[in-house]
Amino acid sequence: MRKKVSIVGAGNVGATAAHWIASKELADVVLIDIIEGVPQGKGLDLLEAMPIEKRDSHVIGTNDYADTANSDIVIITAGLPRKPGMSRDDLLATNYKIMSDVVGKVVANSPNCILIIVSNPLDAMAQAAYRQSKLPRERVIGMAGVLDSARFRTFIAEELKVSVENVTAFVLGGHGDTMVPLPRYSTVAGIPITELMSAERIEQLVQRTRDGGAEIVKYLKSGSAYYAPSAATVEMVEAILKDKKKILPCAVYLEGEYGISGYYVGVPCKLGSKGLEQIVEIKLTAEEDAALKKSAAAVKELCAVIGV
Ligand code: NAI
Ligand code: 2OP
Repeated sequence: MRKKVSIVGAGNVGATAAHWIASKELADVVLIDIIEGVPQGKGLDLLEAMPIEKRDSHVIGTNDYADTANSDIVIITAGLPRKPGMSRDDLLATNYKIMSDVVGKVVANSPNCILIIVSNPLDAMAQAAYRQSKLPRERVIGMAGVLDSARFRTFIAEELKVSVENVTAFVLGGHGDTMVPLPRYSTVAGIPITELMSAERIEQLVQRTRDGGAEIVKYLKSGSAYYAPSAATVEMVEAILKDKKKILPCAVYLEGEYGISGYYVGVPCKLGSKGLEQIVEIKLTAEEDAALKKSAAAVKELCAVIGV
């Protein structure tokens, strides 16, 4: 039976995620949005690219949640992106309203789906979706760490002039200014970058990673990044649909892991057909642990504002 992925929000991230999924032939795709015509137009356009791409993925666009019925995965990208000068947190109230509108409809039509949340502020929106959907935590996962780690990997590969394929990196914590890139666990062909670069240079790349979203917003002016965010989301989709048991940094609801309880925070996770299959607990130094707790406290503050 063919897999089905629905994407709520047919804007930049949603439509580009549809593109990656269809061109990798991972699943049939349903794009849904409140704007009439846009998901239909983008869906049909993408479908018409399939003969050229030699892919049999079926793609439709719709405004009707009935078309999303029985999805294996639903990606939620609905919401406003930020503009220059805005932080992700400035989107809180508006996107919470949108998330509240969307989640019930999604789950009513696909009670067995796995939700991947993308809308910002990511950790608070994932928490809102978890509370509202009443799905188990294994099936409500936030995307941020894969993107933040990909940015860190890009900067490391450019700095050391090595293939991006050689570079692994881990960024934990919330998807915001308090995110926690972990140089000790970031490697080039297995060699920690702490052996390959000065501490000062690593700190500069860490800061560029923290500012990675804002760097793109500054260029685009009217929106935020979408190629890397959608590719990151689709890496999670692929890990789940192919039951890859892949370890990726994802925002998940912690129940005591890393000494944090009751909040979505980015940590290393094993993704497979059941969604979140394991949280991998790695040893942190006192400094890294304090940074992760600070990041969790920032998530807690946002969640308190919207009461989730
Ligand atoms: P966009 O503005 O291009 O697309 C958003 C879409 O959501 C629009 O088409 C809009 O009509 C739709 N929408 C709004 N309300 C809706 C509703 N109630 N039901 C269905 N659709 C609705 O924005 P973009 O660039 O695609 O970003 C989407 C979200 O993802 C933003 O909140 C952005 O901040 C976030 N984001 C998160 C990232 C992460 O790492 N977690 C990375 C990049 C973006
Ligand atoms: C990003 O990091 C906007 O959260 C989005 O690009």
